[in-house]
Amino acid sequence: MTRASEERVWEILKGIKFPGMSRDIVSFGFVDRVEATAERVHVDLSIATGNPEAAEKVRADVEQALAELGPIQVEVRLEVRTPPSAAQQVAQSPDLIPEVQHVVAVASGKGGVGKSTVATNLAVKLGQLGHRVGLLDADIYGPSLPMMIGIDEQPKVDGNRLIPFEKHGIKVMSLGFILDVDQPVIWRGPMVMKAIEQMLGDVDWGPLDFMIVDLPPGTGDAQLTISQRVPLSGAVIVTTPQDIALIDARKGLAMFQKVSVPVMGIIENMSGFVCPHCGETTDVFKSGGGARTAETLGCPFLGSVPLDPAIMRGGDEGVPVVAAEPDGFHGESFKQLAEAVIAGVSSQQRPKLSIF
Ligand SMILES: Nc1ncnc2c1ncn2[C@@H]1O[C@H](COP(=O)(O)OP(=O)(O)OP(=O)(O)O)[C@@H](O)[C@H]1O
Ligand SMILES: [Mg+2]
Repeated sequence: MTRASEERVWEILKGIKFPGMSRDIVSFGFVDRVEATAERVHVDLSIATGNPEAAEKVRADVEQALAELGPIQVEVRLEVRTPPSAAQQVAQSPDLIPEVQHVVAVASGKGGVGKSTVATNLAVKLGQLGHRVGLLDADIYGPSLPMMIGIDEQPKVDGNRLIPFEKHGIKVMSLGFILDVDQPVIWRGPMVMKAIEQMLGDVDWGPLDFMIVDLPPGTGDAQLTISQRVPLSGAVIVTTPQDIALIDARKGLAMFQKVSVPVMGIIENMSGFVCPHCGETTDVFKSGGGARTAETLGCPFLGSVPLDPAIMRGGDEGVPVVAAEPDGFHGESFKQLAEAVIAGVSSQQRPKLSIF
C-alpha cells in the first residue's frame, strides 16, 4: 500500500463517530497511529472514556469500515484510558482569578436571611478600611446586588472581558447586570458552572485584596462550583436567630467542611429590632442563637447585625447603610465583622483549590 493509501485510512477514520456523539474519532484525538503497507493496515486507538463498551464499538466500527480497502489484513489495537476525574480536572484547570488574594464566600443554608445585605456591607466596609475589594454576585438564580448597590446598566466590554462596575469604593459584578431580571432563568448544573466561571475568569477584576462572593441560598451547583473553581480563604455563614434558620446554617457549614473550605464563622443577622424612634433593641426572635450555634459547631461567632429598617432601606435604595453612614452604628458593627474577616485570612497563604 502506498502513502496515499494511509491518507485513505485517515479519511475512513474521519467518517467514524464516537457512539452518541456528533464528532468523529479523529477530531477527538482517539487515533494514535496509522500504518499501512500493501498487505496490512494497522490502527492504534487510544480512547479516554468511562464507557468501555463505547470504545469496543469504535473498534468494531473501524474494523468494519476498513474492510472496504479490500482483502488485506486489518489490525486495530485499542487502549481504553480512564478519563481524568472531576477532582483531577479541577487540579489541572487554570486559576481563574490569579490576581485576587483572598476570596471569602458569604453563604447560608436558607434563603432570605440577609446574605446579600451582609456581603454588600462587608465588602464596602473592607473597601473603607483601605483594601481593594471586589463583590461578586454568584446568586445566578436571583441576583440582587444590582439593586442593593444601585446600578441599573449593562457593563462595558473590553476585548472579550467584562469591566466590573466601581461603586461605593468597590468593584462589583453580577449576572443581574446582563440578564433580563424579569425572565426566570432555568439553570442546569453545567450552565451554572459555566456562568460562574465566566463571572470569575471573563471579568477584568484586576488585583484585589478581597473578593466577597454572595452565594445563592442552600448547597447546590453554584456553591460547589465556587468551592471547586476558586481558592476560597473561607466562608462566612449568615443565619437568623430562629431555630429553623440555625438548622439550615448547620447544613451550609457541613457542606463547606466537606469540601475543605474553612468556615470563618457565623454572623447572626436580624438579631434584634432597633426601634427607629427610641433606638432601643428588642429581641424579635430568640436571641443568642448564632453564638450558641457557633459554639456547638466549634466555629467562631463573628457578630450580629440587628434588624433595622435603615438596613433594608439601604438595600432598596442602592446605598448600603455602611456607605451612607460609615461611622454610624452599623458602620461600626460591620467594621468589627470586617476586622474579624481580615484577622481570619491574615495568617493564611493564598489557599490552593480544594479537591474532594
Ligand atoms: N439586618 C437587617 N435589617 C433589616 N432588613 C434586612 C436586614 N438584613 C436583610 N434585610 C432585608 O431582608 C431582605 C432579604 O435580605 P437579603 O436579600 O440580603 O437576603 P439573602 O439571604 O441574600 O436572600 P436570598 O436568599 O434571596 O439571596 C432584604 O429586603 C433586605 O433588605
Ligand atoms: Mg441574596
